[in-house]
Amino acid sequence: MTSSRKAPRTDVPRIIGHRGTAGNAPENTIAGFEKAQALGARWVEFDCMLSLDEVVVLHHDDTVDRTTNGTGLVSEKSFVELRRLDAGSWFSPDYTGAHIPSFDQTIAALTQLGLGANVEIKPVTGHERRTGQVVAAQTAALWPVSLPPALLSSFSLEALEEAMTVAPDVDRAILWWDIPKDWYDHHIRLGASAAHVSAKKLSDRQAAAFREAGVPFRAYTVNDPAEAERLYALGCESIFTDFPDRFS
Ligand code: G3P
Ligand code: MG
Repeated sequence: MTSSRKAPRTDVPRIIGHRGTAGNAPENTIAGFEKAQALGARWVEFDCMLSLDEVVVLHHDDTVDRTTNGTGLVSEKSFVELRRLDAGSWFSPDYTGAHIPSFDQTIAALTQLGLGANVEIKPVTGHERRTGQVVAAQTAALWPVSLPPALLSSFSLEALEEAMTVAPDVDRAILWWDIPKDWYDHHIRLGASAAHVSAKKLSDRQAAAFREAGVPFRAYTVNDPAEAERLYALGCESIFTDFPDRFS
């Protein structure tokens, strides 16, 4: 396995809509991406996992309980079963009938909307490697040239390892909650181009370490413009926000 230092990319905007625009529309839905675009977002982030029949679907939690009218693990439902669920009315009656989209449906919608994206690989617990393989392979195969190159990310280092093997040319960032002492070793080993970090957890000292190492970093989830200013002053490149309309 080879790994290398990646050149920082320059096309990621300062504002990335989190799960679409999770404060304004149901997360991880096509309706949410349409809303994000209408609010001025140029990029969105969303979460990808595998259904029982290995269709890549957009979903955040291991179970469907919080964001649909169903119950149970995503990994124990076929795509047809997931597709029958209402993924909008929990957020607002205005979004009744919104569905859990597949990744390929999402890519088609992003292409129409002209939205760039950070594709977070979000495996159901225990499915890390396979999810990394399938999401990365589909990204490499399906991402259109009309959009900025896809940016994969994951909290799962195993998923990113698989992504690197299956689709070495698809850009990768490591997602951190607690940033370990050996973060830079992982960054190099996984051929990452950036670190995606919790705004809550990011210390001034850690920001300085990223700057000194020349590693771009982006912060989630930032809904307060004053907090965004603090982060940008520390050298943060982009923020993930539920409310892109708050940031002009
Ligand atoms: O990718 C940034 C952010 O989405 C990571 O946290 O839990 O919202 O997926 P989470
Ligand atoms: Mg996410």
